[in-house]
This record gives sequence, C-alpha cells and structure tokens, in this order.
Amino acid sequence: LQASLTIDPAFTVGDVDPRLYGSFVEHMGRCVYTGIYEPGHPLADESGFRTDVADLTRDLGVPLIRYPGGNFVSGYRWEDGIGPVDERPTRLDLAWRSLETNRVGVDEFLPWARSVGAETMMAVNLGTRGIDAARDLIEYCNLPGGTYLSDLRRKNGSAEPHGIRTWCLGNEMDGPWQIGHKTAYEYGRLASETAKAMRLVDPSIELVACGSSNSSMPTFGSWEATMLGETYDQVDYVSMHAYYEQRGDDRDSFLACAVDMDRFIDAVIATADHVRAVGRRKKRLNISFDEWNVWYLKRFEGEANLAIREAPPLIEDVYSVTDAVVVGTMLNSLLRHADRVKIGCQAQLVNVIAPIMTTPGGAAWKQATYHPFALTSRYGRGTVLRVEPASPRHETKWLGEVPLLDAVAVQNEDGVSLFAVNRSQTSPMTVDVDLRAWPGYRVASHVMIADDDPEAVNTAENPERVVPRPVEVPAVDGGRVALELPALSWSLVRLE
Ligand code: AHR
Repeated sequence: LQASLTIDPAFTVGDVDPRLYGSFVEHMGRCVYTGIYEPGHPLADESGFRTDVADLTRDLGVPLIRYPGGNFVSGYRWEDGIGPVDERPTRLDLAWRSLETNRVGVDEFLPWARSVGAETMMAVNLGTRGIDAARDLIEYCNLPGGTYLSDLRRKNGSAEPHGIRTWCLGNEMDGPWQIGHKTAYEYGRLASETAKAMRLVDPSIELVACGSSNSSMPTFGSWEATMLGETYDQVDYVSMHAYYEQRGDDRDSFLACAVDMDRFIDAVIATADHVRAVGRRKKRLNISFDEWNVWYLKRFEGEANLAIREAPPLIEDVYSVTDAVVVGTMLNSLLRHADRVKIGCQAQLVNVIAPIMTTPGGAAWKQATYHPFALTSRYGRGTVLRVEPASPRHETKWLGEVPLLDAVAVQNEDGVSLFAVNRSQTSPMTVDVDLRAWPGYRVASHVMIADDDPEAVNTAENPERVVPRPVEVPAVDGGRVALELPALSWSLVRLE
C-alpha cells in the first residue's frame, strides 16, 4: 500500500487543550475501591491511596479527571462522602447495584487528583436531585469560608477551597437506563436553572450540558437541538460519549470506528452551531468528549441485576494490540477536532474498561491501551496540523469506504509528532511524508505498536507482552521521508 501526507505549519487545526487527555473515575466496580484506593495494601499511603496506581496515573499524563460518575452520580448524595469516615453511611447504589461505603468522597478525591497532576471535573446529580444539592456542593467545594457549607469543609479538614473549575450538569440524561431520565426539554430546563444557581455561587466556573449518550440513541440530534435551546446561554460545552467494540469477526469495521467518531463530532458541532445561528448568538460552544473508549458491551451483558456487592469487578475488559491501535485512532479523532473538542475523558482510569489494572493486595499493571494514550498525551501537545493524507481505501460493512491510513500531526517548540495508524489487517503501507516545510528536520525516533498476534494482551503475569517498540528510522531525502507502517499498527514518529 502507498499513501502520502504533507506536514506544513501553515495549515493548522487549532491548539490542543491539555484537558483533551483527561480520564474518568466513577464510583463503579473496582475503579475507586481496590483501584485508586485500598487501605491496607502494602503500597497504600497514609490516606489509603495506592501509590503504585498513583505513579501509573502520573505517567499516563491525565491533566483532568471526571468524577464521581457516570451513571453513579444520578443517585448520589454527595453529603454522604464528607465528615468522619467511620460515621459515613453505606448506601445502595442503584446504577451498579453495589454497596457504596462512602469512604472516598470529595475531600479525599480532590487532593488525590491534585497529587497525580490532575484537576477534577465534577458532575452533579440531576437524576434524583437538582438545584439545591448542586448549589450546596459548589458552595462546599469552591467558597473560601464564611458560609455554613464552606465552613463545614474547613471543619472537615480542607482549609483551602477545592477550586473546581469545570462541572458536568448530570450524566447521560437522555438514556432510559439513567435514574431520573428526562426528556430533552425537561433536562434542558433543569440544567439551565441549575447552571444559573451554580454560577451565582461561583461565577468563574465552566459548565457542561449533557449531549446524547451515543450517536445511536433514537433522540440523537433532536436531543442536542432541544436541550441546547434551553441551556445554550448558560453552558460552555456539550458532552459526547462513545464506546466501540468489535462485533463478531468484523475487525475492519472496528478498526475504522474513528471515522464514526469524526462524523459524530461533526454532527454535534453542526447542531450546536445551528442553535447558535437560530438564536443570533455570538458565543460558540465547545465539546467535552467526556466518555470514550473501547468497551466490549456484549461480554458483560450478564452483569446487570447481579447480587448486591461491595466493589464488585465490573466490565474489566482486557485490551489487545488491536484495541490499542483503535484507541490510537480515537485519540487522533479528538486531535483532528482540537479547535472545538477541548475536553476528553477516556473512561475509565482503573480496572473498569481502563488502561490501568490492579489485583487487590497485589500488583498494578499497564494494559496495551495505556501506551498509545500515554505517548499521545506526552507528545501530542501544541498545535494540530492538517496533514491531508492521500490514502488507499477499502470497504467496511459498517461504515462503507474508509481510508486505511489514519494520521494527525502536532507541532510544538520541541518538534513535530506524527501519529499514524495503518488499518489494513494484511498489507504493510509506505507513507511518503512531505517535509519540505521543515528544512533541517530529521526523523528522531519511530516507536510502534504492532504484533504478529493482534489479540496479544498484557496480564498481571506478563505485563510487558504489549509495549511500544522503537524501529529503525529512515533518512529524510530532498524534504521527503518514506515511513514503513506494518499491517494493523500504531506509530509515533518524532521529527526534530
Ligand atoms: O463508563 C461506564 C458507564 O458508561 C458510565 O457510568 C455511563 O455514563 C456510561 O453509560
């Protein structure tokens, strides 16, 4: 296969907001309990948080973490998670039919997130609760003191305000599975009034309105239009969620899912801009793509309505080389829209469809998908360039004809990073890269995820089975370089 692209600083998409590399911690399964937090673990710190997981999170490079849900937030009473830990109630969480002991709440999570280099994006409950609980939570978290709730926070040991900048107005409120599910209009009104009250407490905040839970929702499109009709002037972002999986043996369609993600993002931007035009508004909304990942929903269908347990293992997907390549393309899709997608959260951080896995009392390790995320977060900051790939195409069952090359470039003062995927399962690809706009630049490194076994995975016993490997770098000749991408591979090429 032969493809080509041009890297030229004259053609930009936009600047990368580092929050594009966010993650998500939900009180679900083993994400919090025996994930980030496990008192009694040999590597737990004095607050009960696992230092091995904190180290892996730091290296992953997540400047923002969404918390505490997810579906969980739609039944959550945040007050249960404050004050003396021994006095906190154990509640039945209806989202995941789990026992929630509330040993971790805002006063534990916020300092932990800060310690791993992340700001927290907090979600409020607009399922079973509303304006009052939301305005109380922001008063508790963001006011310095002098009011009942801000003084209560101080009394509980957090002298400084948590200073939470970005807030999600509920979660997936279009979904019939959501506790307190609403119509677009009902949600729009509630979100708008909640936003108003929250801004009266702290005018400096940013707010995210719930978009559709995925592009297959029957209400997709009309949900955004109606909901934004009510909330547009009060909010800054509209949320998007998307999970992909391989269906049957149709790997070609799965490998192309970033094409679907691109179309989904374009559609939500178009709808938001339509509401802007109809209302003669100046402000433009951006996107918070605050849940995305590979999730084999089919594997876990039996997990609904299980016996009620504490921190049960839920949706603990084990990711393969193929999944890592797909995660790379999803990150490319976010980068291609860096002008409008400002926040992204891979769901979730630990154990639950996550790049980091743990054994209770034992090891923590990196899944295959950890690697493209960590490298893109590290090298994909700066300005995204339009590289206009000319690529061979092939037909897929789900998405029709798609390009076999998925590529994006990011430029900063250290050089240029090219993230490139060859989607073909069978044929290697040579990519002719036009570098004439970069005199003196050379290929400094090329690391790759590719494997003879596309289903290879990392496990606790063999955590280094799938890792990025350096490959020989080709020379630049006459302002051009030929990159070799094996079949089904993800690459990071550094030009300096
Ligand atoms: O990330 C797992 C779940 O997926 C979240 O709780 C929910 O928002 C989404 O449906």
